[in-house]
Amino acid sequence: MLDANAPVFARVAEVEGRLAGFSLSVLHEGTWVDAPICYLEDLFVDPGCRGQGIGRRLIDDLIALARSRAWSRLYWHTREDNPARKLYDEFAQADDFVRYRLQF
Ligand SMILES: CC(C)(COP(=O)(O)OP(=O)(O)OC[C@H]1O[C@@H](n2cnc3c(N)ncnc32)[C@H](O)[C@@H]1OP(=O)(O)O)[C@@H](O)C(=O)NCCC(=O)NCCS
Repeated sequence: MLDANAPVFARVAEVEGRLAGFSLSVLHEGTWVDAPICYLEDLFVDPGCRGQGIGRRLIDDLIALARSRAWSRLYWHTREDNPARKLYDEFAQADDFVRYRLQF
């Protein structure tokens, strides 16, 4: 994410100059759309800073970036029972895709 030419990037949230959370994302192309797609790979807020709206603002930040840079889509995965879904459900309805994964 420190490589300006890499499709991976991070956004950070600061509270009084201290790192409070971050989002890690990957921009990639798609075959159904012309504009880049943003995959939010990880969202993390310092346990001592949770419940103050930082997670919501980190997602809002990506939405604002997507709009200003004309990306076509923003998406992320989470576990079915992740309590953070309460937050995610405010942004979009989860779809019915199921992930298959092979490890190498
Ligand atoms: C998920 C996470 C980023 C949310 O960050 P946050 O700053 O606490 O979220 P917010 O304060 O913006 O939460 C917004 C709303 O979602 C709810 N919420 C968020 N995470 C929650 C959790 N883990 N349990 C219960 N409610 C949660 C909050 O209650 C809040 O609702 P409210 O405004 O009605 O009170 C944070 O909990 C985290 O880092 N978790 C560990 C890592 C993780 O699970 N990441 C996501 C992987 S997909």
